[in-house]
Amino acid sequence: MTIREIITVPDEILKKISEPIEKVGVNEKKLIDDLFETMYNSNGIGLAAVQVGILKRVLVIDVSSKEDKKKPMCFINPTIKKLSDEMSVYEEGCLSIPDTFIEIQRPKICEIEYVDIDGKINIKQFDGLLSTCVQHEINHLDGKLIIDHLSKLKRDMIIKKISKNQNNPDRIIV
Ligand code: NI
Repeated sequence: MTIREIITVPDEILKKISEPIEKVGVNEKKLIDDLFETMYNSNGIGLAAVQVGILKRVLVIDVSSKEDKKKPMCFINPTIKKLSDEMSVYEEGCLSIPDTFIEIQRPKICEIEYVDIDGKINIKQFDGLLSTCVQHEINHLDGKLIIDHLSKLKRDMIIKKISKNQNNPDRIIV
């Protein structure tokens, strides 16, 4: 397993649409292992392949708390089948948008069809935190980020701030 570098805004790849996976082979399984390793290493609860620069429709999630046993979940080619009218709100962060939290309202319950690591099709319903997390990650596969829920002005401000922090040069006095 390899910890891969997580891509952050304003990298344009994060806006691209990921391609479906045709077969879950050795390379795909290796990618999934790496996604888990990278997510756990960054203390995230979800990670999509595009966030490590791979435009494939696969994502991993683990919403278990640190004290609990790990509950790794992997979704290949996930599609949303149903969304509840009832909504819930979480303050969401994203490993690709450092130090930024945005309150986002999403459907409380979602039904997802996806392929699992054994190549089997599953349909499952998710509620609460897991529902929000799955929706957030599926958004990544379609090039959508949490900052897209904001006005352009606010979005540009956040990206500017993050870009500045990323190439903060050493300060010297000569
Ligand atoms: Ni994210």
